Amino acid sequence: MSASTPTTATPATDRHQQGTAQVAVTGLAVMGRNLARNLARNGFRVAVHNRTTSRAEALVEEFGHEGDFTLARTAEELVAALERPRRIIVMVKAGEATDAVLDELVPLLDEGDIVADAGNAHWRDTVRRHAALADKGIRFAGVGVSGGEVGALEGPSIMPGCDADTYGELGPFLEIISAHVDDEPCCTLIGPDGSGHFVKMVHNGIEYSDMQLIAETYDLLRGPLGLPVDAVADTFRAWNDTELESYLVQITAEVLAHTDADTGRPFVDVVRDAAEQKGTGRWTVQTALDLGVPVTGIAEATMARAVSGDTERRAAVREALEPVDDGDEGGSDAAAVDLSVDDLRAALYAAKVVSYAQGLDMVREGSRENDWDIDPADLSRIWRDGCIIRARLLGDITQAVEEHPDAPSLLATPTFAAAVADRLPALRRVVTAAVASGTPAPVFSAVLAYVDALRAERLPAALVQGLRDYFGAHTYERVDREGTFHTEWSKDRAEVEA
Ligand SMILES: NC(=O)c1ccc[n+]([C@@H]2O[C@H](COP(=O)([O-])OP(=O)(O)OC[C@H]3O[C@@H](n4cnc5c(N)ncnc54)[C@H](OP(=O)(O)O)[C@@H]3O)[C@@H](O)[C@H]2O)c1
Repeated sequence: MSASTPTTATPATDRHQQGTAQVAVTGLAVMGRNLARNLARNGFRVAVHNRTTSRAEALVEEFGHEGDFTLARTAEELVAALERPRRIIVMVKAGEATDAVLDELVPLLDEGDIVADAGNAHWRDTVRRHAALADKGIRFAGVGVSGGEVGALEGPSIMPGCDADTYGELGPFLEIISAHVDDEPCCTLIGPDGSGHFVKMVHNGIEYSDMQLIAETYDLLRGPLGLPVDAVADTFRAWNDTELESYLVQITAEVLAHTDADTGRPFVDVVRDAAEQKGTGRWTVQTALDLGVPVTGIAEATMARAVSGDTERRAAVREALEPVDDGDEGGSDAAAVDLSVDDLRAALYAAKVVSYAQGLDMVREGSRENDWDIDPADLSRIWRDGCIIRARLLGDITQAVEEHPDAPSLLATPTFAAAVADRLPALRRVVTAAVASGTPAPVFSAVLAYVDALRAERLPAALVQGLRDYFGAHTYERVDREGTFHTEWSKDRAEVEA
């Protein structure tokens, strides 16, 4: 296949002119560029465009030999380069940039053309854009893409949300360029309008929680257990041959084994300990609160990043509390905290399962609330490869969800109930050791509390209800008979039916 050179690009101004490119990508930073190359490498004729033309020129210059590219210097050229219905993938900075691109493109399009936003849009923006474009007869897809730079080039996990007819036109392209497991694409229609970006958001939330759990495990291995960093790297490397096998565990071993060239110190020791966030964790927690779904692992992971970045407050409180003697003598006595490396391995797996269970609960609730009809088994299937949270565990989750579609929680399926029950003592030892040694382990602690709360015969929520009724006459239900009741706390404390 030969690439079109920049000089062969059609300087079209007539939007009704029909080109031969099958698909376009606009927005050619790391993700868009690699997605365009992936499409071209798979034999598709690809038109490429970027606000700053030099990026598009550089792509064709550098990678033109990889496939059939058409360079478009303007939005008009891009539209003219495409066969119809046009398929345009937008891969720009999420938010205002996406609206700016749509404002420019949409007036140039014809009824039935397809615009797919593959950036990390907020799912509510996608719902809005889908409706706005539908009014103009333009088909809009909100496409979640995970896998980072390499995934975009070699096969990401793709989560498209759109109407079925739009998927019929777009899906074959996305499925071919996605990662594959046993010839099955890691891409499937998730549901309508915002569902793809909703699911991508939850995926990123789970990613936050996965990474924080790994970080807490690392901290406990190095702190209370006193392992040198290269031994911690070896531990994660060995764990990647177990039920913990996953992309994140694999790269954890690599990052921990890396030595800083300047200082000769472990790389992890020269990196500032303030984790950044781009917003998808926060969106997940905000949406979960709106839906009333407890995603405690994701929430604590998001908060942990915020705490880490709160450097001024950290310094002030560290200094203020420094003289306080709480009996902590450094917190590195492994014997005193009764913790083993195997405990951490078991606890990491159990905590991961809980955090995936919470994420899937959120998807179910979001789907119900928005009438999206998402099949949770589809998600675990398309997350098995290509994406950042790819893990051996996802194969087992797919099987459990398929076998027990009506289970109210992954934790209520036989496989995962047994897996978590077996590891609960280890998880409890890990949290105990973290507390005893003063090692912050917010996600381990949160998921353990969540499991304990779900398992409890009675929760102290009964007292909360009593207090709410006392100060606000908010009423309560009784365990022994139907109805809603109120106690007249400020009078004779008689109970009345509300
Ligand atoms: N990086 C990842 O690992 C990853 C993974 C999954 C999804 N995503 C999502 O994929 C999208 C692209 O990510 P990225 O890292 O490749 O790039 P990015 O840094 O998020 O965005 C840069 C791109 O957006 C364009 N852009 C910015 N403002 C614009 C505007 N007002 N009008 C038109 N174009 C505008 C830039 O054009 P110019 O060259 O002209 O500035 C450039 O092509 C984002 O939504 C991101 O959240 C990223």
